[in-house]
Amino acid sequence: MALIEVDALSTLFPSGEGDLRAVDGLSFAVQPGETVAIVGESGSGKSVTVMSIMRLLGAATRHEGAVRFEGRDLLALSEAEMRKVRGNRIGMIFQEPMTALNPVQTIGSQIAESLRLHRGLSRRDSRARALEMLSLVGIPAPERRIDEYPHQLSGGMRQRVMIAMALACDPALLIADEPTTALDVTVQAQILDLIREQARKLGAGVILITHDLGVVAELADRVIVVYAGRKVEEGTAAEILDRPRHPYTRGLLEATPRLRGGGGHRAGRMTEIPGNVPGLAEILAGCAFEPRCAHAQPCCRIERPPEVPVAQDHLVVCRRAEPVS
Ligand SMILES: Nc1ncnc2c1ncn2[C@@H]1O[C@H](COP(=O)(O)OP(=O)(O)OP(=O)(O)O)[C@@H](O)[C@H]1O
Ligand SMILES: [Mg+2]
Repeated sequence: MALIEVDALSTLFPSGEGDLRAVDGLSFAVQPGETVAIVGESGSGKSVTVMSIMRLLGAATRHEGAVRFEGRDLLALSEAEMRKVRGNRIGMIFQEPMTALNPVQTIGSQIAESLRLHRGLSRRDSRARALEMLSLVGIPAPERRIDEYPHQLSGGMRQRVMIAMALACDPALLIADEPTTALDVTVQAQILDLIREQARKLGAGVILITHDLGVVAELADRVIVVYAGRKVEEGTAAEILDRPRHPYTRGLLEATPRLRGGGGHRAGRMTEIPGNVPGLAEILAGCAFEPRCAHAQPCCRIERPPEVPVAQDHLVVCRRAEPVS
């Protein structure tokens, strides 16, 4: 059974010009132990998707669909129930550590607090476990660092603290939104190893948002490609990287330089492809990518494209795709 099942999720921000639909009927699932990458250009709704799962977008935001996790629909939980899920059954690593860390509380007490709240540990046990977590994520001299404040740490160390916090309660699901963008290359590799190792040890599922195709190739089992808040393609990492079928995915991959010297997967950040992402207030009756698509036909503008299975474990949302026979 899936660990988490996002079912036709839409996220709407009310505005003067009507509802802005940042996520539009998105469905995907993550199995226990599986790492699913969400990729797409800037503004395609990746962060809004995971913020919706965590219910962190504020009271004015509207959701449609369901997010089934451990037998419940997270979208239907009360705020009090949701607080028991966050940082406990679902851990989240944010792009910017300071959004998750309290600047006026020592890192040790922040981790310990979450353990007391969710696990009912005593003061003493929670501190011991916090120390253990800090050393697990590779913080040097953790017995000294544990009493420091976030600003006393480097960016890479703060990212590690956030990972320690996200993992402290042994989450079933780990969400990582661009966990390494702000870090230098060496630290990036260490942080990614850490996420992979911990996820494997816990058997946790991972939702990983990244711009970096090298990271996708290295960490992801499956890839969801999103455009304008909609899924355009889904498949195993090998299928998506080696045999991309949607014109948008192909554009993304072509815009990304190949790993120098290597014939294998491309590396580096995805760059933009020509044209612009549609505005959130635009009503898109047909395919959202149609205005930018070199292969578009008149019907693409009018009708929503179907989901076409093109291989085992490979789905393309495009009218032109040939179904597997
Ligand atoms: N609170 C909000 N109110 C209105 N619009 C929002 C809000 N938060 C995000 N958006 C819009 O929703 C769209 C999707 O944003 P999102 O942050 O999910 O993009 P993203 O795919 O994570 O991009 P990036 O790769 O740059 O992080 C964008 O057009 C953004 O401007
Ligand atoms: Mg984002």
